[in-house]
Amino acid sequence: MNSYQKLLSTVRRIVAGAPYRFTYAADGFGVRKKFVPFLGDAQFDAAWRETVEVNLEHWNGDVPDIRWRCHVCAWAATSCAKLEGDFAEFGVNTGILSSMVLKTTNVAEAGKKFFLFDSFAGFRKIWPRPTKKNIRRR
Ligand SMILES: C[S@@+](CC[C@H](N)C(=O)[O-])C[C@H]1O[C@@H](n2cnc3c(N)ncnc32)[C@H](O)[C@@H]1O
Repeated sequence: MNSYQKLLSTVRRIVAGAPYRFTYAADGFGVRKKFVPFLGDAQFDAAWRETVEVNLEHWNGDVPDIRWRCHVCAWAATSCAKLEGDFAEFGVNTGILSSMVLKTTNVAEAGKKFFLFDSFAGFRKIWPRPTKKNIRRR
């Protein structure tokens, strides 16, 4: 790195914030200088605030910011609402994802049922491990 590049890097760090100013940073990853439309979406924002509010007690006041995941699931659900069949989420926990999907898409209006599953305890140990022999083929 020559002295000009060093200077540029220093200026960039000062202007952008150290190390970088992210457009979205949560849930173990971040993006910068990207168009993240859900951040400016009033309906999405209202749905997220409402979801956080009802989850506060369970999460001891610190609801994980999984908006990116919610956005991806809502995008997928919007496309899938046009298909036959219903919806199911496996491993729903407090329902952050499913409630965000229901609040921000037309899944309910499309007449879809949304089945929510959670063992809250993992699989029972007596269940057989999948093997070539016991996996049913179509
Ligand atoms: C990280 S949470 C996911 C929560 C939810 N999908 C969300 O993003 O808001 C994972 C959940 O999966 C459940 N889980 C883990 N193993 C499972 C299993 N074998 N069967 C059913 N649920 C399971 C756990 O009880 C937990 O509530």
